[in-house]
Amino acid sequence: MQWKDLKHFFHLNRKRKPAPDEHFAFIDLRGINKVYEGPSGGFHALKEITLQIQSGEMVAIAGKSGSGKSTLLNMITGIDRPTSGEIYINEVPLHKLDEGRLTIWRGNAVGIIFQFFQLLPTMTLLENVILPMDFCHYGSRRSRRERAMRLLSEVDLGALRNRLPAHVSGGQQQRAAIARALANDPPIIVADEPTGNLDTASAEAVFQLLQRLVALGKTVIVVTHDPDLAQRCQRIISIADGRITTDQPTQEPEAAPAVVPEVVPQVADEETAVLEPGT
Ligand SMILES: Nc1ncnc2c1ncn2[C@@H]1O[C@H](COP(=O)(O)OP(=O)(O)O)[C@@H](O)[C@H]1O
Ligand SMILES: [Mg+2]
Repeated sequence: MQWKDLKHFFHLNRKRKPAPDEHFAFIDLRGINKVYEGPSGGFHALKEITLQIQSGEMVAIAGKSGSGKSTLLNMITGIDRPTSGEIYINEVPLHKLDEGRLTIWRGNAVGIIFQFFQLLPTMTLLENVILPMDFCHYGSRRSRRERAMRLLSEVDLGALRNRLPAHVSGGQQQRAAIARALANDPPIIVADEPTGNLDTASAEAVFQLLQRLVALGKTVIVVTHDPDLAQRCQRIISIADGRITTDQPTQEPEAAPAVVPEVVPQVADEETAVLEPGT
């Protein structure tokens, strides 16, 4: 399924015509509240979050531990649901999708990168990258393997593709996780402290890969504790106690690295590189 088809597939409220002046941002959160229910009562983790992110933006989310950053990302990825409020992504009302549809939507629409990589330990790097394509029936079986090999080459892991995650470094695992996040060519990449567990050089390599994705036209949302990395995004949203406290463009957002990759076709031609530098 192509991204443009997803919009129609998931557009559940066709009867509800948008008002003529109603405009949806690419990522459009309206009055989101999240209350975690526990034995000792509810915990209000997100409070009236209203937020718009445009397609192609690179946004940093900052805030202390426990402020609600991961909870916010989980709303955008559909990993969790808001207690109240509405979330539209490319006009698809996520808050109305049932679990099955949400799973299909997530597999096609977002690539997720975690602090601790979350690669499957018993599978090779290559198998880890193929897996999301198998789940989403992306392309033919043979093309999946070839695409996964290309993605791994382009994050400099071609030679290590048959290793298990435990047999490569943390930086290499995170680069494999980025290749996995790109497997189904999703328009949105969400990264939750992707450099939090890496040394400086590996963190830089991972961050530059994220910047290259923005140059490819992806929308990238990255939670980071590193103020220098946040400053290199186009916009910083700060969260405290479940509320947005500031939301500002950075002074001089860094241009993407000099190498500008080509746009990747949905089902890449076998000869076409996936993240290849432009000629
Ligand atoms: N599943 C959960 N059940 C109950 N409380 C939770 C759950 N997940 C997160 N919280 C609480 O919600 C708050 C925000 O958590 P989180 O979004 O993970 O913060 P951050 O990512 O900014 O560190 C924290 O106080 C956390 O303890
Ligand atoms: Mg978190």
